[in-house]
Amino acid sequence: METFVIFNKYKRRPIPEELLKGDNRSDEGVIEFFIKKYTKEGDNVIDIFAGLGTTLFIAEEMNRIPYGVELEEERFTFVKKNLKHSNNIFLGDSRKLSEYDIPHCDFSFSSPIFMNKTETVNPLSGFTTDGDYDQYLREIGLVYKNLKEVMKPNSVIVIEASNLKNSGVLTTLAWDICSEVSKIFRFEGEVIVVWDIPGMEFPNGAFGYGYDHHYCLIFRNM
Ligand SMILES: C[S@@+](CC[C@H](N)C(=O)[O-])C[C@H]1O[C@@H](n2cnc3c(N)ncnc32)[C@H](O)[C@@H]1O
Repeated sequence: METFVIFNKYKRRPIPEELLKGDNRSDEGVIEFFIKKYTKEGDNVIDIFAGLGTTLFIAEEMNRIPYGVELEEERFTFVKKNLKHSNNIFLGDSRKLSEYDIPHCDFSFSSPIFMNKTETVNPLSGFTTDGDYDQYLREIGLVYKNLKEVMKPNSVIVIEASNLKNSGVLTTLAWDICSEVSKIFRFEGEVIVVWDIPGMEFPNGAFGYGYDHHYCLIFRNM
């Protein structure tokens, strides 16, 4: 399998003006690439950090059955309104995944909300509670432990994440998530993703976090 891929970072799906602020959607090409690689038509695909629904919409387009959980109500409402399988998106907290009626899934793609190590508010609570980076990593572990209950044996779990550089502070987020989730699933390697957009430069990295590349971490449910 390739360990380095280049995409042109396209987001075909229009989203309402009010949701554009803080648009942290995943690249559609990246998701298509992994769904094609690891699933077949009719398979159940889950994203436990559903966001604006990119994984779910693409899974549906590719005749897979999408499932997702999203904490933010506005985002959830947008996905629910536009997804054909509208009952398959749950408004809620992936730290409590067992509360939702989700069948066993064949594949998971997710991009967790990021945190840098100097922050003191927990992004996994929708920024409503205090919390430090160690707690964040523990809770990321809890989320993926919950996910294990939902995944079929031998299924593949892809996590998209980047390391971060903010104001001179380096957070090895992707590597730390990898190490946490490796306690739960077998780590099978990473694919480095970069974007090639003619005429576009990323002076502060493609995510605005100081890096031009990110990782898709591949795990297997063994
Ligand atoms: C990086 S975004 C995911 C973007 C998504 N891949 C897309 O293309 O739209 C992370 C999402 O996780 C959601 N989130 C954060 N904490 C959560 C939690 N505890 N449970 C479920 N969703 C959560 C955030 O509201 C955000 O929409």
